[in-house]
Amino acid sequence: MIELPKLPYDKSGLEPYISQETLDFHYGKHHQTYVTKLNALIKDTQFMEMSLEDIILKASGAIFNNAAQVWNHTFYWESLSDKQQQQPQGPLLDAINRDFGSLEQFVQQFSEQAASIFGSGWCWLVLNPADASLQIMQTSNAELPMTQNKHALLTCDVWEHAYYIDARNQRPKYIENFWNVVNWERVAQRYAIHTES
Ligand code: FE2
Repeated sequence: MIELPKLPYDKSGLEPYISQETLDFHYGKHHQTYVTKLNALIKDTQFMEMSLEDIILKASGAIFNNAAQVWNHTFYWESLSDKQQQQPQGPLLDAINRDFGSLEQFVQQFSEQAASIFGSGWCWLVLNPADASLQIMQTSNAELPMTQNKHALLTCDVWEHAYYIDARNQRPKYIENFWNVVNWERVAQRYAIHTES
C-alpha cells in the first residue's frame, strides 16, 4: 500500500508564485489520483509488498507510469519551500559554477530546457555518480533519472496541470515563478548525500 505523503508546507505556502488552488488540484487531485490508481493496479500482485523505488525499477506500463508519477510529485513538492527566495550556497554553488559557469547561466539553461520539453514531462538537475558532475536533464511523461542511474537533485514539473490555473498556457511564466520557491537548502542536502563517501 503506497500512501500520499503529507505536503511539507501549508497549501498557501508557495503563494503568490504557486497558488493554493493549484496545490488543491495538483497535490489534492492529480498526485492523489496517481496514488489511488497505483494501489488499485498493484493489488494482489508481486508489487504489493515492494517499496515505491523497487516498483519503479521493476515495473513497466501503467504500473511504472503511476509509480513514477507518485515518486516524481513527492520529489517535486520537496524541491519547493515556503521559505521563499532561497539561494544555493557552499559546495552545491561551487559545483553549479564549475559545471554551468554561474548560477545565472544555470537558471537560464534550466529554464530554457524546461520550457522546450515537448508535451508533458519533467526538467531535472541531476548528479552523475561516475564523476560527480551536474547535468540538466529532460524527461517525458513519467520518466525519471533513477532509471538512468542518475541522482535527482531538483525537479520542475512541466505537465500542464502544474501551471494552467496560475499561468494558463504560459509555461515560461510558471518557470519564472518556480525559482522563487525552490528549496535550495534541500537540493544542497541531496547533493551532500550523494557526494559524501
Ligand atoms: Fe504534476
